[in-house]
Amino acid sequence: LLHQKTYLVDGELKQWEGDTAEVYSTISSTENYKPTLLGTIPQLGEKEALDALNSACSAYDKGKGLWPTMKVIDRIACMEKFVEQMKTKREEVVKLLMWEIGKNLPDSEKEFDRTVDYIYDTIEAYKQIDRNSAKFEKNSGVYAHIRRGPLGVVLCLGPYNYPLNETFTLLIPALIMGNPVIFKPAKIGVLLISPLLEAFQNSFPKGAVNIVYGRGRVLATPIMQSGKIDVLALIGNSKSANALQAQHPKGNRLRMVLGLEAKNPAIVLPHADLDLAVEECIAGTLSFNGQRCTALKVLYVHESIVDEFNKRFSEKVDALKFGNPWETGVKLTPLPEVEKPGYIQELIDDALEKGAKKQNEKGGKTSENFIFPAVLYPVTKDMRVFKEEQFGPVIPVVPFKNIDTPLDDMAESNYGQQVSLFGKDIDTLSPLIDTLVNLVCRVNLNSSCQRGPDVYPFTGRKDSAYGTLSVHDALRSFSIRTFVASKDN
Ligand code: G3H
Repeated sequence: LLHQKTYLVDGELKQWEGDTAEVYSTISSTENYKPTLLGTIPQLGEKEALDALNSACSAYDKGKGLWPTMKVIDRIACMEKFVEQMKTKREEVVKLLMWEIGKNLPDSEKEFDRTVDYIYDTIEAYKQIDRNSAKFEKNSGVYAHIRRGPLGVVLCLGPYNYPLNETFTLLIPALIMGNPVIFKPAKIGVLLISPLLEAFQNSFPKGAVNIVYGRGRVLATPIMQSGKIDVLALIGNSKSANALQAQHPKGNRLRMVLGLEAKNPAIVLPHADLDLAVEECIAGTLSFNGQRCTALKVLYVHESIVDEFNKRFSEKVDALKFGNPWETGVKLTPLPEVEKPGYIQELIDDALEKGAKKQNEKGGKTSENFIFPAVLYPVTKDMRVFKEEQFGPVIPVVPFKNIDTPLDDMAESNYGQQVSLFGKDIDTLSPLIDTLVNLVCRVNLNSSCQRGPDVYPFTGRKDSAYGTLSVHDALRSFSIRTFVASKDN
């Protein structure tokens, strides 16, 4: 059991004697389902939230503080020290990733290693960013010595499905650009931050990083209502983002970097390589049980090949192994949100009532903490599974005759992150790609949707995102371009 008794504010690991909350895993260690107690975390209150805010504001000191004015080389040294110490915690963090969010061992290891790589890549990108001089205007005789400056105090909130990696794609660039950060770990995937607390404390100056535990509403409300937050950095859902933004007293004058919902479609054209499409759609729909914003959440398959697609796809789905995250070859794992199996079952029941058929034998609720993925066909617009971001193991298949069907649906959708396009004929693909890039931000040709490689821009249109992440783009998202104009180069 891990009892987290401290939190990080003002450069100190403060002892907490007040209320705590128990953290459970939905992985059951007994045959009859019983959630496993993993530990406890502090339930800080408004006072501690405001202490964290004051700590970050002092570190920033309206731009005059130690952290925002620190030399590039020194800030890099802090980040390097942190990542070196973080690497020693790999085993503990990976184990907690498996227990807290049910991510399988290879993917948990990947999440940790990807985060370490991301930090090193960020350091390299930071060394290069806009540190040049240029004459903006020919013959003006004035040189602009470009610098990137911080934006201010950042409130950072991450998601449960990548509680380390995606959270750090906000926190690390924000920090290295000189912004002090207040970070509240996700509700699920919270204990895995504990092994890193000391590394944060040892590596960064007082107030640069503040880590608080407790209920989002209790902590984030006073912080947002203070009007002292300069940037809201959140990966999660738009409901939370909107609620937090509304609490900011200065209205729209709040900078935001947001990664939100998506309903990424796959479009399988008549002459697509069917085996490849099936393989990619399996990975795209069901990696981490479909709990990824980049997951394929609806499959449009041309009517001429849809029966064959459904057959091959459903066989592959039923062959996926379910088990505990550390077991070899396991692809499907217990779902960390207790309410998720019931919700997914509701989507299935609704689709079946409205005329869809389950294509695979195993699909449907199997236990308290798991639901086997169901392939549903034909899915129509009136079904909940067509409209809602399922964020879990259920796969709607929509037949189409005319390409305008998926294109019109995508144009009408509130989301616009990515699409997967499967086909071979370049004369068909080429004009289609020209349209698709205007509907989403990334077109994946004959491959499933994904965020990586992390140097690629990661964003979305409409309600899917605000601002851009990636190793390079995130540094820009968390900074402002400034320059010194002078007559000397
Ligand atoms: O949940 C959303 C993540 O950005 C997905 O990232 O495509 O690397 O799994 P991924």
